[in-house]
Amino acid sequence: MDLVNGYTLMSYAKKNHLVLPAFNTTNYEMTLAIIKAFDEMKLGGYIQISSHNLKLSSPEIIANMTREVMVRENISTPIGLHLDHGKSFEDVKRCIDAGFTSVMVDASELPFDDNIQEVKRAADYAHYFGIPVEAELGGIRGKEDDHVSDVNAKTHPEDVLNFVEKTGCDTLAVAVGNVHGLDLTPNLDFPLMAKVAEASPVPLVLHGGSGIPFDQVRRAKENNLIKVNYGSDLRKAYIKTFGQAYDENHNEFNLYGVAAKGIQNVIETATTIIKEVNVKEVGIL
Ligand code: G3H
Ligand code: ZN
Repeated sequence: MDLVNGYTLMSYAKKNHLVLPAFNTTNYEMTLAIIKAFDEMKLGGYIQISSHNLKLSSPEIIANMTREVMVRENISTPIGLHLDHGKSFEDVKRCIDAGFTSVMVDASELPFDDNIQEVKRAADYAHYFGIPVEAELGGIRGKEDDHVSDVNAKTHPEDVLNFVEKTGCDTLAVAVGNVHGLDLTPNLDFPLMAKVAEASPVPLVLHGGSGIPFDQVRRAKENNLIKVNYGSDLRKAYIKTFGQAYDENHNEFNLYGVAAKGIQNVIETATTIIKEVNVKEVGIL
């Protein structure tokens, strides 16, 4: 099947009481592995790529490649293609034009009113094409690739309704003790998350899934959580394969063989996450 529209994916998640994993891709191997993992587990979710990672390829390359894999591998699991941490209106436009099925506008580092303005501008465009928008309120500490953020501003529940109403966003990424990357330890503030969920008219998104114990992700599901992002765990699984191959043989040059092993390692990591996040629902399709 083709990629699934973001609103359809949200309905699928709600109907089946799922938290949808969103896995970050960078290249062909990661994309193939993520799609295969979803299909093996018969549970849907997102492939996503950040503005930063798109610099290595392009929205068009990623969208065409993802669609090609979906058709060639005869995939029957609902999968959406999401722009993660969209850093500019131009990126949002290019991704939607290329066929992405949902987008995130990350203007969380801007002052509150500017964040609203950026998200609203993108949401007006995206909604015209029937594409849902994720926005971020608060600052998530940690590392995304080579970008390090020290901003540790948890989401204020009292800002939530105003922000969602003014931006028109469809999902809200929150800062409730979650962190990006593998160097910091996440410490989820469940009472805060409950307050944010209560204030929010739209479902929540949790960034920085790598490193959060699975029982905590399942607990977070009670707070209207619809999507949880995983980047570092999968990337580490892929990169480790190359490191090990080189350590074992400094003359290793079988790129196909090592890449195939990398794909397998990413599939294993992703299937474990899919299973653990939705323990009761695995195999519902
Ligand atoms: O947007 C991407 C995710 O939030 C990735 O976070 O690398 O800590 O899993 P992670
Ligand atoms: Zn993130």
